[in-house]
Amino acid sequence: MNGKTKIAVFASGSGSNFEALEFACREGELDAEITLVMTDKPASFVVERARQTDIRTVALEPKAFPSKQAFEEALIAILQDEGVEWIVLAGYMRLIGPTLLAAYPSRIVNIHPSLLPSFPGKDAIGQAIAHGVKVTGVTVHLVDEGMDTGPILAQAPVQVVDGNPELTAKAIHAVEHVLYKETLQSLFTSETKSKA
Ligand code: GRF
Repeated sequence: MNGKTKIAVFASGSGSNFEALEFACREGELDAEITLVMTDKPASFVVERARQTDIRTVALEPKAFPSKQAFEEALIAILQDEGVEWIVLAGYMRLIGPTLLAAYPSRIVNIHPSLLPSFPGKDAIGQAIAHGVKVTGVTVHLVDEGMDTGPILAQAPVQVVDGNPELTAKAIHAVEHVLYKETLQSLFTSETKSKA
């Protein structure tokens, strides 16, 4: 035991947030240990990024299971076996079901590329641009049974860049990579204090 909070990062895509968190843990900016990376998309780039580290990567495809419940039960067995305390979603493109929520109540965190409750769900940046907003942003929140609806922990604004999705996504990612580690650090610190 090294006293660090044990987290699992769930990702379905590029994994730049995973990489930023992994770096923050190594640099001592985030007092946590990424015990494993879980992906539902074995071909996603996050697997490549995780391979550059010595973090265990688990690829579990829901279609390999008879039900969402069975998929989440298999996940829980792995998470509990590794002693995972918090689940950190970083571009994980699936709704968390009741089985996993019950196993990790108020212990699943998500990052979303908009100022919630505006633009929940898929392609939040595209939705913001289509709506013509000039400022969008990033939200870190606890996960509940809804789509991007749980209690908000932190938000930061980001200017929409020339109505351009790629440039705006780049600006959003830069903010995400700072906001996520800072929010998790204060979450874990306040938990450690309340346990003491
Ligand atoms: C991020 O914009 C995050 O807010 C959203 O999915 C994206 C994941 O990016 N949930 P990456 O895979 O971490 O690069």
